[in-house]
Amino acid sequence: MPIDVERARRETPGCAHVLHFNNAGASLLPQAVTEAMVRYLQRESEIGGYEAALESQETIGTFYMALTRMLGCRPEEIAYAESATRAWDMAFYGIPLKPGDRILTGRMEYGSNWIAMLQRARQTGASIEVVPSDETGQICVAALRGMLDERVKLIALTHGPINGGLVNPAAEVGKIARDAGVLYLLDACQSAGQMPLNVEELGCDFLSATGRKYLRGPRGTGFLYVRETALNRLEPPFLDMFAAEWVSRDAYQLQPNARRFEQFEANYAAKIGLGVAVDYALQWGLDAIQERIYTLAANLRARLALLPRITVQDLGREQCGIVSFTVEGMEGHDLWYLRNRLAEQRIHIWTSIPSGTRLDMDARNLTRLARASLHYYNTEAESDRFCTTLRTMITS
Ligand SMILES: Cc1ncc(COP(=O)(O)O)c(C=O)c1O
Repeated sequence: MPIDVERARRETPGCAHVLHFNNAGASLLPQAVTEAMVRYLQRESEIGGYEAALESQETIGTFYMALTRMLGCRPEEIAYAESATRAWDMAFYGIPLKPGDRILTGRMEYGSNWIAMLQRARQTGASIEVVPSDETGQICVAALRGMLDERVKLIALTHGPINGGLVNPAAEVGKIARDAGVLYLLDACQSAGQMPLNVEELGCDFLSATGRKYLRGPRGTGFLYVRETALNRLEPPFLDMFAAEWVSRDAYQLQPNARRFEQFEANYAAKIGLGVAVDYALQWGLDAIQERIYTLAANLRARLALLPRITVQDLGREQCGIVSFTVEGMEGHDLWYLRNRLAEQRIHIWTSIPSGTRLDMDARNLTRLARASLHYYNTEAESDRFCTTLRTMITS
């Protein structure tokens, strides 16, 4: 069923205030998410944090059930995290590596992931190798296949990068990883909430994502999926009395499932909010969400391409809701000032800097990109207004 855009906008109070094309940064919250969090915080203030958590155990548990439905996995395979980066780190830093081991990744890899890889490469003597991109910019699946050997311990791939519309062929990579028995860590931070994600089809062992972007959850939330069969191939880098039980002076026992990647303390209001956000997305249907986002974004690319001085910079065979562009004569900070001027008109976009995706930005000689990222609650009328305002700003 197509998205009822009017209803979606009614249920998103922010739509009345701003033209929000910064969904790859953080989306506008649905009213239901805000209400669930406020309700829970109210209970914390009335009866105390531990008591509110006990009283709301079932509601908190819906976080796991919602993600189970979204990813096609079991609730025991989900861990809550405070961000996508921490979720990714909890898997990555737990994977055993030694000198000579190889980590394969792609050109679109996210900056924080790359920094973590560099750190572990220095600490362990493992190497990081970048699988070449094909002519469309996506990871070259044939090259990946050719690079595999018994020293490859991990394939780490960013599904959709922070700086543009490209979507990597994550399921094809998953098939290769599974055939080779290599662990596969998928950063689905930008794709979660934007398209259907089924972990069986993706073939990943781990999947990390954040709450605040296309899932429309609150800030400070994220999650990690850990395939049951991968659970014992690594140990979480940090443990506490929730992730493990202290059973005797010299021994602890890990939780039997992905909860071993969590910690005792959490922002329960935010966790509940993310569960509600995931359920809200499922209620629209991720196929319908994807179709609407892709159509809006394709139309915006076509319109931007007609504007003077603008070059649309999106790569990839498949392109999602993130639209990236440059403006002739505007380097680095100029694009940030352009963002500020648009914000004065209550039009929200963002910019991408080289350190977010340095391999790709350096390869394309880009100092900064403007990024307009669309969600299903955006409209063609908003794209019109955006393009008209932008044209005035860059031509006057
Ligand atoms: C591809 C990708 N991975 C990871 C992250 C990090 O997410 P978080 O800020 O929740 O750690 C981002 C954030 O922009 C991202 O775009």
